[in-house]
Amino acid sequence: MRAVVHPGGLSGGPARVPGDKSIAHRWLLLAATAAGRSELRGVPAALDVKATASCLARISRTDARGALEGWASRPCPEADRDRSTTNDPRPRGVDLVLEAHGRAALEAPDRCLECGNSGTTMRLLAGVVAALRFETVLVGDESLSRRPMERVAEPLRAMGADVRTTDGHPPVVVRGAALRGIEHLVPVPSAQVKSAVLLAGLAADGETTVLEPAPTRDHTERALEHLGAPVAFEPGRATVRAFQHGGFAATVPGDASSAAFLVAGAVLTGSALEIRDVGLNPTRTRFLDVLERMGAEVRASVEREELGEPVGTLEVGTGGALVGTAVGPAELPLVIDEVPVLALLAAHARGQTRFAGAGELKVKESDRLGAIEGAILALGGDARVDGDELVVAGGGLRGGQAPASADHRIVMAAAVSALAAREPTTIEGIEAAEVSFPGFVDVLRALGAGVEV
Ligand code: S3P
Repeated sequence: MRAVVHPGGLSGGPARVPGDKSIAHRWLLLAATAAGRSELRGVPAALDVKATASCLARISRTDARGALEGWASRPCPEADRDRSTTNDPRPRGVDLVLEAHGRAALEAPDRCLECGNSGTTMRLLAGVVAALRFETVLVGDESLSRRPMERVAEPLRAMGADVRTTDGHPPVVVRGAALRGIEHLVPVPSAQVKSAVLLAGLAADGETTVLEPAPTRDHTERALEHLGAPVAFEPGRATVRAFQHGGFAATVPGDASSAAFLVAGAVLTGSALEIRDVGLNPTRTRFLDVLERMGAEVRASVEREELGEPVGTLEVGTGGALVGTAVGPAELPLVIDEVPVLALLAAHARGQTRFAGAGELKVKESDRLGAIEGAILALGGDARVDGDELVVAGGGLRGGQAPASADHRIVMAAAVSALAAREPTTIEGIEAAEVSFPGFVDVLRALGAGVEV
């Protein structure tokens, strides 16, 4: 599907964004492995989250299976989507009630688990099934099938599971076993790998510790702590011991990474904007610091907590001129999903912006460094990838034709950067936004953006 985005500011609001994809994956996994009833509200209709739900349906008992499958297989997300639009007082996403019977009650799947485009689904599920005494085959779409899986297979093997990858990639075949705790130093910072090992650690004998060279998002640790699990964590280190949690009830906070696209659109066009009910976990809001350094006026106010996750309002002021900045390797994992939008925004700033230690972006849903460079060049700006570094020259974008991409964050970054371009911008494949931000175009339009599809 093609979108044409016309230059112009955002107005209206307050806006809301769909529920957080990272959190929804984890809470679904925890609800499906709980001993008891869980009630999840505001589960986003993001395609990635639906992939987790449908995989869990395949290994759940009848009652939970019905609820998960019924939602995940609903062909048209309209009913979920309309709840995520601006000014809509209803909660976002859908509410799911799951009656589960503990990890040990999960059943052997009768077919492969299809993880779609979702690396989080595949890696976290590998950790869950590593302790289950049956074989699970995890497969993905073309993009996911190219992504590295040894990073998760290796620690799970060290814990005692039989895990096979295909030349380091999916399909991943996991034959569960009795697990023992390990101490694992993750070579490249990754919340997915950390979470897979911690989830396996919940079923392992002894203590499981994950050490990271730089801190990453801590949603798994926070949820486990709130469920009463013996978990201890600090930036760069998390330890867990065996535990079977019970059911829980919580509302998924709005996705800060989705909010980042609207924030960038407002910052780029000097528009004031308020976004409500957003997850404000500090391991996810670092992009606000980067934007502040660039001259933006942004404010986050925490109002409540959901299962250990701070939730509140994001406000963007009309701000001044944007200047370039530098994001170093220690900060990068905390803005990993925001690099595309920050880079496209930096193309409109005065001066250069550098993202160092960004090599991981080459193995995301696409080679994001290459895709960002290509988009900026095609839209009349200047950027280059130099090893693991991305250097963006400021000065503004003309607009025009963005290179086709099937990567959700690339198409959304191009779309909001187009609001500040000199000419309209055409984006092919805008439907990829549904992977993480169902209703993206509707939300932009509700905020007054000129988007034709
Ligand atoms: C995620 C972790 C990050 C991030 C991805 C979601 C998660 O991936 O890029 O979008 O939910 O744990 P890595 O762990 O591979 O860095």
